[in-house]
Amino acid sequence: MKRKCEDLHPAQWGRNPRNGTGWIAPEMIRIENLTKNYKSVQALKGISLHVAEGELFAYLGPNGSGKTTTIRVLTGLAAPTSGNATLHGFHILRDTLKAKRQCGLVPQAINLDQELTVRENLEIHGRLFQMPRSERKSRIEELLDYIGMKDRKDSPVKHLSGGMRRRVMIARALMHSPRILFLDEPTVGLDPTIRRKIWSLIKRIQQSGATIFLTTHYIEEAEFLAERVAFLDEGRIVAVDSPQALMARLGTWALDEMVDDNMETRYFQSRGEANAYIARQQGSFSLRRVNLEDVFLSLTGKKVLP
Ligand SMILES: Nc1ncnc2c1ncn2[C@@H]1O[C@H](COP(=O)(O)OP(=O)(O)OP(=O)(O)O)[C@@H](O)[C@H]1O
Ligand SMILES: [Mg+2]
Repeated sequence: MKRKCEDLHPAQWGRNPRNGTGWIAPEMIRIENLTKNYKSVQALKGISLHVAEGELFAYLGPNGSGKTTTIRVLTGLAAPTSGNATLHGFHILRDTLKAKRQCGLVPQAINLDQELTVRENLEIHGRLFQMPRSERKSRIEELLDYIGMKDRKDSPVKHLSGGMRRRVMIARALMHSPRILFLDEPTVGLDPTIRRKIWSLIKRIQQSGATIFLTTHYIEEAEFLAERVAFLDEGRIVAVDSPQALMARLGTWALDEMVDDNMETRYFQSRGEANAYIARQQGSFSLRRVNLEDVFLSLTGKKVLP
C-alpha cells in the first residue's frame, strides 16, 4: 500500500524507487550503524541502509564481505555488536518476535529436513508460526501451486533435485505470509533455465507486495531483478544506487584487453571514443556494453566467485 508522506511518521519515510512523483512507500528495513564482531573478526563495520516497501534490493559483495552476517542479524539468528535495525518499524532487539514475524528467510545452505516430505516441511514451519490447521492446509496447497510442485508434495526432500529444493525453501519462507523476504543466494548451483524460473518466482513474489532483500554472486541476476543494489566490501557499504546509475558512473562501453595474462578494462562514454582509442593502439580488444560486474570489480577489486 502506498501512502503520501504526510500520512506517515518520519521514521517510516522512504524513497519509492519506482517513481519520483512524491508518493512514497513506507520503509520496510532500516539499518543504522550496525556492527558485528565474531571474536577478532569485524564482520560488519557500521552498516546503514534503508529499503522501501515493495522494493527488490540486492546486497552484493565478495566472499566474506558480510552479506550473510547482515541477514543473520536482521532475522534474529545472530545478535548485533552495536547499532540498530527495524523491520517494518519493529526493532530487532526490543520487538524481536514481532520483527521476526515480518520476515521469511531462505538461507544460503539448504536446511530442509531431508527425510520429511515437501508438505511435512511446510507443515512444520506453519506450526512454528502458530498458524491454525485450516490455514496451514490451504496455504500449503496455494504455495505448492505457486512454485509449480503440486505433484511432488508427498516426495521426501531427499528425492528432489537442487532446483526443486530451492523452490521448496522459498515456499517454506513464504508460509506465514511475511512482508519481507530475505533470499541468501537463492540460485546458487542451479542451471540457467532453473535460475530463470526462480527469477520469475521472485518477481511474482515482489508483485504480490513483498519487499525482497537478495544476495547473489550472479551479478547479472541483480542487474536483471533489482531496483537498487548495495555493494559491500570487508564489512562496509561502498555504494548504493540503481544498477543503471551505478553502471553510468563508469561509462557506457567497456573495452577488454589482455595485457601480460591479465584482463584490463577501460570505460568510455561513447562507442566512437572507444574506437578512437583502439585505432591509436596495437593489440586485440573486445568491446562490449558496461555491466554490473564491471561496477563490482571497480568497487571491490575482486573477481566474483560463484
Ligand atoms: N559464526 C561465525 N564465527 C566466526 N566468524 C564468522 C562466523 N560467521 C561469519 N564469520 C566471518 O565473518 C565474515 C563475513 O562472513 P559472511 O558469511 O557474512 O560473508 P558473506 O558475504 O556472506 O560471504 P559469502 O559470499 O562467501 O557467502 C567472514 O570473515 C567470516 O569468516
Ligand atoms: Mg554468505
